[in-house]
Amino acid sequence: MTKKLLITIDGPAGAGKTTVSRELADRLGYRYIDTGALYRGVALAAQSRKTDPQNDAELEQLCSELKLDFIRNDMGLRLLSNGADISDLIRTPEITMLASAVSARPVVRHYLLELQRKLGEEKAAVFEGRDMGTVVFPDADIKFFLNASTRERAERRFNELKTNSSQTLDEVQRDIQQRDKNDSTRAVAPLKPAGDAIVIDSTDLTVSQVVERMLSHIE
Ligand code: DC
Repeated sequence: MTKKLLITIDGPAGAGKTTVSRELADRLGYRYIDTGALYRGVALAAQSRKTDPQNDAELEQLCSELKLDFIRNDMGLRLLSNGADISDLIRTPEITMLASAVSARPVVRHYLLELQRKLGEEKAAVFEGRDMGTVVFPDADIKFFLNASTRERAERRFNELKTNSSQTLDEVQRDIQQRDKNDSTRAVAPLKPAGDAIVIDSTDLTVSQVVERMLSHIE
């Protein structure tokens, strides 16, 4: 394929977006951008500075002093926060919930909007998130919305977390339901498929089946 495309993949937590986006980007020779990591980066900074996630002035100050950057090294895609590699620190259940809280704040979304659009300028990228096709890249070349049943999403997340978490499957499912509610009912950029998105339900599909389906749409 010669034309460089900008592809977006939105959907709720645990729908398989990360694995699918990475594999799709690899197959196309494109960059993969995990925008959820950016919200997690803001959450980690808020936690370490004890910023009140409900206080817009404090959040604005925090964002103005925060420089988030992706790099690729032999460990894969890494997120730097003011130069420090925070990729492993942003995956705890606490940061997961705090990321959901800060992502509802317009000042945070505004700060990250610019950064994300800059990252998309060169195209040839797969952007994964919640509002990629609706808000950040309304003119994306191809938009996907990936979904799966709540139980299936909880099981996938549980299997991913198993080794470094003490949460039970039911607790993981409860967190997912809470996040779904936060993410889809917030006033700004709520989670929903773009009108022109291709919706794929991955409940009974393997990663390769989802990727093949996407590739056939892209072709
Ligand atoms: O995909 P994730 O679990 O790493 O995302 C973390 C949080 O960030 C999630 O609660 C929703 C939010 N988010 C968002 O609001 N918009 C995005 N484009 C990506 C993530």
